[in-house]
Amino acid sequence: MKKRNYLIAGNWKMNGTLGSLREVIELDKALNNPEIELVLCLPATIIHPAVKKVLSTHLRIGAQNCHHHQEGAFTGDVSAKMLKDIGANFVIVGHSERRQAYGETSELVKEKASAVINEGLMTIICVGETEEQKNNSQTEEIVCAQVKKSMPNAANEKNTVIAYEPIWAIGTGKVPSLDDIKKIHGSIRSLLGKIKGEDVSQRMRILYGGSVKPGNAKDIFCLEDVDGALVGGASLKAADLVEIAKYAQVY
Ligand code: 13P
Repeated sequence: MKKRNYLIAGNWKMNGTLGSLREVIELDKALNNPEIELVLCLPATIIHPAVKKVLSTHLRIGAQNCHHHQEGAFTGDVSAKMLKDIGANFVIVGHSERRQAYGETSELVKEKASAVINEGLMTIICVGETEEQKNNSQTEEIVCAQVKKSMPNAANEKNTVIAYEPIWAIGTGKVPSLDDIKKIHGSIRSLLGKIKGEDVSQRMRILYGGSVKPGNAKDIFCLEDVDGALVGGASLKAADLVEIAKYAQVY
């Protein structure tokens, strides 16, 4: 029975200028399957120009981070309210690059996710273990603790997506075995069942991220609890993201 539509999310990270909007336009034209949702999380500087370029309803534009307050004396920061104002629909929070480089804790990630939800936007909460934690067989423990601590009380399938991104797989070309992806996605789903109840847990999407490419997307998307992908490098070119998205099918 179909419970969840696939979501293919691109994270451009700190890449892209106004000239890169041609990729957004190409992506907008390329795919038109209402059962596959696409979102491009862009640098804040090109969100609004991108929103103005998008003509279809299946492609949304998102951001990669936000401050947990709506406004105030936070030099250089951008709030969820501001992102909503310029047309963003999604906001990634808790990406490992921010957890590691800026010391963002799960408690802060939860506040950011709450801020996104309060604006009526969709949040993508990222979790994932380091290589050392994986080698110490701590993946489930670390990832489940992050999910538990990062998810606001108000989170449900309509405002929240979980992205499992093993840190050692990001930008490295390394990908966990299909069995390992299946196992951890299953663990996240059963944890969601305990926290949010069976109904929400069956409807909330769990994405895989980390070196997703056209060549490995199909096998990953076939796994039961994988509902799409959060794609970094391969999202910079519309043609690659289109190919990845074509492997997403509704079950
Ligand atoms: P890559 O797809 O480049 O490994 O990046 C994954 C990621 O960090 C997406 O948020």
